[in-house]
Amino acid sequence: MTTTTDPLAVEQGLPATTPLSTLLREGTRTEHEAAEQMGFVESLMAGRLDRAAYTDLAVQQHAIYTALEAASAQIRALPGGDAIVFDELTRVPSIEADLAFLLGPDWAQQMRVLPATERYAARLRETGTSLAAYAAHAYTRYLGDLSGGQIIQRMLQRHYGFEAEGVSFYHFAEIPKPKPFKDAYRDRLDALDLDEDARAAAVTEAKHAFEHNRALFAELGELHLR
Ligand code: HEM
Repeated sequence: MTTTTDPLAVEQGLPATTPLSTLLREGTRTEHEAAEQMGFVESLMAGRLDRAAYTDLAVQQHAIYTALEAASAQIRALPGGDAIVFDELTRVPSIEADLAFLLGPDWAQQMRVLPATERYAARLRETGTSLAAYAAHAYTRYLGDLSGGQIIQRMLQRHYGFEAEGVSFYHFAEIPKPKPFKDAYRDRLDALDLDEDARAAAVTEAKHAFEHNRALFAELGELHLR
C-alpha cells in the first residue's frame, strides 16, 4: 500500500493513507446504489419475475465467472498474485450445479449469452495479466456475492420456491461467516504492492466493473420486465 501523497484519496476527500479497500468502496458507492436500483434487480428481489428470469441471470453468471476464474489462475502465477486468489470463492462448479438443476442435464446446449455479458467476459479475460485490474473485478464480484448476494439468495428462496438447489451460487460452503472473510479479503487488497497509478487504475476499473453489471441488468430487463 502506498502511504505517501495520494492524489486519488485527496480527490475523494479521504486521508492520504486511505487503504485500497476503502478507495474501492467509496469510489463505487454511487455505482452500487445505481446497480441496486436497476429495474431487473428490484423486480427479481421483489418476486415480480419468474424462475426463467433468474435462470437467465445464472447463465450470464456462468460466462462471467468462467472468465473471472480463468483470470484468477493466471493471477495466481504472478508475483504477489497468490495473496488475492482464494479457492473457497470459486463459483463455477456451483453455477454449473445450479444450471443442471434449472435447465436439466443438457444445460450447456441451452446457454444464451447476452451481448453485455460477452463484453464483460471479454474484459475479464484481459485482467489475468494485471493485478490492479483483476483485484478491481474480483472485489466487485466476490465481495458483492458475500454481501448483497446473501440477501438476494434469501429473496430468491422466498419468492421463487428455491431451497438449496438452484441457488447454490450464493452459498459459500467453505465460508461459514462472510464478515471475517470479507475483512481478511480487504486486508489482502490493502497489502497488494500497487503504486499510486495502479491504485487509481483499480478504482477506475471497479467503476467499469459496476458499469458492466449495470449494462447486463439493462439487457436482462429488456427481456424480462413486463
Ligand atoms: C439487490 C442488489 C444488491 C443489494 C441488496 C446489495 C446489498 C449490499 C449490502 C447490504 C452491502 C454491504 C454489506 C456489508 O457492509 O458488509 C453490499 C456490499 C457490496 N456490494 Fe452489493 N448489493 C446489491 C447489488 C450489488 C451488485 C450488482 C454488485 C456488483 C456487481 C454489488 C457489489 C457489492 C460490493 C463490491 C460490496 C462490498 C462493498 C465494500 O464493503 O467494499 N452489489 N451490497
